[in-house]
Amino acid sequence: MATTTLSPCTPSKLCSSKNGMFSPCQAVMLKSTKTNLIGKEKGRNITCMATSIPADRVPDMSKRETLNLLLLGALSLPTAGMLVPYAVFFAPPGSGGAGGGTVAKDALGNDVLAAEWLKAHGPGDRTLTQGLKGDPTYLVVESDKTLATYGINAVCTHLGCVVPFNKAENKFICPCHGSQYNNQGLVVRGPAPLSLALAHADIDDGKVLFVPWVETDFRTGQDPWWA
Ligand code: FES
Repeated sequence: MATTTLSPCTPSKLCSSKNGMFSPCQAVMLKSTKTNLIGKEKGRNITCMATSIPADRVPDMSKRETLNLLLLGALSLPTAGMLVPYAVFFAPPGSGGAGGGTVAKDALGNDVLAAEWLKAHGPGDRTLTQGLKGDPTYLVVESDKTLATYGINAVCTHLGCVVPFNKAENKFICPCHGSQYNNQGLVVRGPAPLSLALAHADIDDGKVLFVPWVETDFRTGQDPWWA
């Protein structure tokens, strides 16, 4: 009796049978040397000893789908957790107020209430608040003890230092390279090339609201360079 082993297994050669999975490539053919071993058939008599996987060990479709869903959920949650901070970082900040305005915030991060502010700040006062896009912006108290209708952006137009207000000189003097601006933010000495930017300071429901200034700069009579 001669024995022949078939070719190596590939997935395409797997097939199912009544009792489970059957791999014909793992079958062993036994070729008989006798001419008529069983019944009427002459010639070769082949005995197949197949390797099979029991049917009860093959996961059914619903189990596989459940496992796929669990795997998908396990991957999705950490992925979403990483993507949300990126999305928040790249999204433009919210306006924080009606009509594209931003409610002014004091040094503690509280909304600036106009009446309360005027109780604590006298005529000629220029105090920093948080303005549009988070920029430091001066609220101005006029000589008649009202809030000015404009705020002054404190970012120096030379290289971006925050410019403090010098009460004794009644002007803004940049500590970095000495640029000076008058008490309305108009540049009066370089190297700063431009005046400080403006924003409208409106009062909405008792709160101070900064709104972008896109009209003519009343200090220069020119279009605003920042708009
Ligand atoms: S940054 Fe203000 S003068 Fe240079």
